[in-house]
This record gives sequence, C-alpha cells and structure tokens, in this order.
Amino acid sequence: MTAAATALALTVSAGAVAAACDDGEIVIKFSHVTNTDKHPKGIAASLFQQRVNDEMNGKACVEVFPNSTLYNDDQVLEALLQGDVQMAAPSLSKFEQFTKVFRIFDLPFMFKNIAAVDAFQKSESGEAMKASMTRRGLLGLEFWHNGMKQMSANKPLNLPTDAAGLKFRVQPSDVIKAQMEAIGVSPQPMAFSEVYGALQTGVVDGQENTWSNIWGQKFFEVQDGITETNHGIIDYMVVTSTDWWDSLDADVRDQLATILEEVTVARNAESSSVNDAAKASIIEAGGEVRTLDADTRQIWVDAMKPVWSQFVDDVGQDNIDAAQAINA
Ligand code: LMR
Repeated sequence: MTAAATALALTVSAGAVAAACDDGEIVIKFSHVTNTDKHPKGIAASLFQQRVNDEMNGKACVEVFPNSTLYNDDQVLEALLQGDVQMAAPSLSKFEQFTKVFRIFDLPFMFKNIAAVDAFQKSESGEAMKASMTRRGLLGLEFWHNGMKQMSANKPLNLPTDAAGLKFRVQPSDVIKAQMEAIGVSPQPMAFSEVYGALQTGVVDGQENTWSNIWGQKFFEVQDGITETNHGIIDYMVVTSTDWWDSLDADVRDQLATILEEVTVARNAESSSVNDAAKASIIEAGGEVRTLDADTRQIWVDAMKPVWSQFVDDVGQDNIDAAQAINA
C-alpha cells in the first residue's frame, strides 16, 4: 500500500492506525505502546510505516499497532518469537528475561544526556549489544531514543527522603527496582497501559518517566507534580525475530534495514525536541514542574548511585568506564 493510500486508510478508519496490506506483500506488524504523533517512538514507527509502504509498495507493508492495542511490552517479545508480530521497540528495561547487558542503561545517573547514550551505543560494545539475544531468537536492529526520566508523585518531591515509604510503578527491571529501594520506595512493576489508572486510584503513589510519556499518558493530571531529576534514561531497541529476519530475501532485508537506519538517524536527532515540547505542553496544561538546585540534585545522586555496585558483574566495569569517559 502506498503512503497516500495509507493516509487515506488512516483517515477513514477513525483511530485505527494499521494500514490494510495488499495481497502478496510481506506484512510487517509493528506493535508498540505509545501514541503515534507526539512521542519519539510513535513518530519514528509511523515514519517507518510510511516510508516502507511508499518505497516498497507491492513488496512489503508495515502495519503499526500503537497504544498497547495489540500487545503490552511484557507480551510482545514472546509474540515476536511466535511470529505473531514482526517488529517492536520496547524500552531497554523490558529485556530483563532475555539479557542482562542492557542493565547499564537503567543504572541511575550513568548517562548525563541522550547524546552520551547515543555515543555509547555507537561504540563497539554498544553495537555488539544488538546481537546479544540472537541465541534466544531476537535480533536488535536499531536503538531509538526517548529521553531523560523524571520523578512524579502524589506529593511534592524535593529530596529523596520525600519519596520514602511511597509506592512507585516501575518497569520490570531489577536495576530500577534496586534504585527505588535505595531511596526507600516500594517498586511495583506494571504495564505502561495500566499506570494512569493505578496513579488515579492510588494503587501506586508515583512513577518515573520521560516528559513525552508523562505528557502522552497524561500522568501529570493524577500527580501532585513532576520533579526534574534527569536521573536516568528511556531508550528503545527496534527488535525482530532472527527466524523472520533470516527468512527474508536479501534485497528486501537490505531495503528494510536501510529505511530503518535512515528513520533512526532522522528521528533520534529530534527526540530531545519532542521531549522539550512535551514538557512545555505539561506546563501549559497546568502541570507542576519542580526543578532541583545543584546541591539538592547531588543528594539524589548520592542516594541512588550506590546501586551501581550491585550490577557491576552484569554490565562490566569496562562498560561503566566507557560510559563515564563519554560523559566527561
Ligand atoms: C514504560 O513502560 O514506562 C515505557 O517503557 C513506555 C515506553 O515505551 O516508552
């Protein structure tokens, strides 16, 4: 299906984003959990869909299923292995069952900004991480960026001790659980699609996420405010199954890889501006954003950074050193 036909299909099918594919086209179902147009991942997936459906019309066709409409992140990797979807882009915190090497990305205050994450991923050890799950049947194609994580709760957070005793929703990552426990928070793993309701009903008191996720899911509506801690990152891996990827004809695989790489370069360059716009939208909508002075932020660093020592064996001191050298 061409891009114009995709656009028409999207308009007439009111809300459904998947584009109907033509007979004979290789169908690539791409499942993700965010919105399509105000989020670094959603925009990138939509652009990938548009370009494949235009440039590979008759050969291949991408159908994007956003907003957890098809699978949550805790189901999608199994669905990939079963061949029920062909691509996904879960956050690096969601690969816990498959590999421990991504734990470096969850360690608090490991990367000072997304440019540092980008540089680390482009290093030899970062590139090698894409193939770290092939023996489990998953292949990483590209890293996609989101942004820095912030803390929100149903009460003002200035110091880490303000969060002590609260329940925070976390992604299913042992590093993030340890980070929360380090500040006396009880971590509650939960699917992204359930977080708004859990915050609203008081099942959890707070959460950590990027500006684009806090804006996209409207978490700020059911929180006292957001504290700009920039304590960690959310980044993604575009992942496929090795079986499916290997089954493609070389020319199809190469063309898909080229389009994906171009989309990655274009959209990763915009991830920070998408998050800046989301932050501005939150403030404009009346959300409370609290900033930390340097001394107060250092108290968060001192409280959370000790968790690094628990995970050195998983991530490797050499990787930590490499990441820190990039930060310098
Ligand atoms: C989360 O679960 O909070 C995030 O990984 C969601 C996402 O895909 O950004």
